[in-house]
Amino acid sequence: MAKSIGKKINTAIFISGSGSNLHSIIKNSFKKKFPAEIKLVISNNKFAKGLMYAKQYNIEHKFVNSTKINLFEKKVLNIVKKKKIKLICLAGFMKILSDKFIKGFKYKILNIHPSLLPKYKGLNTHKKAIENNDKFSGCTVHFVTKKLDSGKIILQKKVKINKKETETSLKKKVLKVEHSIYSKAIKIVLKTSY
Ligand code: GRF
Repeated sequence: MAKSIGKKINTAIFISGSGSNLHSIIKNSFKKKFPAEIKLVISNNKFAKGLMYAKQYNIEHKFVNSTKINLFEKKVLNIVKKKKIKLICLAGFMKILSDKFIKGFKYKILNIHPSLLPKYKGLNTHKKAIENNDKFSGCTVHFVTKKLDSGKIILQKKVKINKKETETSLKKKVLKVEHSIYSKAIKIVLKTSY
C-alpha cells in the first residue's frame, strides 16, 4: 500500500534571477504526493524575473536588499521563522549565506549547482567544462554548508558535451536537467530526514 502523505513541509525558495528552477518546483509542488509546499519566495534582486512566478501563483514573495549581508540575513531569518519554514531551497541565489544564518535556521538548506561537483565550484562552470574539453557536465543538488558548493551531495545528473557545444547551449541543456533533479532531491530529503 502506498505510504500516506502527511502535511506538506513549508518551504522557501531563494532566488536572484530568472527563476526557472523556482517555476519548475512550484509546478511540482501542486502534485498531491509532492512533500513540499512553497510558502515563500525571497529575492535579493528587486528585478529578478523569477518574482513573476511567485506573483503568478499567488505565493508570498519578498525582495530583501542584500548589500549589507548581516542585515539581509537577520531580516530573512525573521520572515522565515514567522512563516514556519522548514526547508530552504536556493535556486540561482547569488549570495553566500553565513555560517550564522545556516546555524540560525536549524533546518535543511539545499542548493543547485550547474556542474558535477566537486568539479567547478563557484561561477562560470559551463565555460570551464568546455575549455577543459570535458566529455560530460551536469548539475548537482547538495546541502548548504559554510563552505561554498561543498555540502553533501543529494543528487547529480550528467549531460553529454558535444563537439560543437557552446556555453549557451550547454547552459540550456544543463538547466533542463536541473529542473528534473531539484524536485527529486527535495522528495529524497523530505522523505529521509523530516
Ligand atoms: C542555475 O543554473 C543554477 O544551477 C545556478 O543558477 C542558475 C539559476 O537558474 N545556481 P534559474 O534562476 O533557476 O533559471
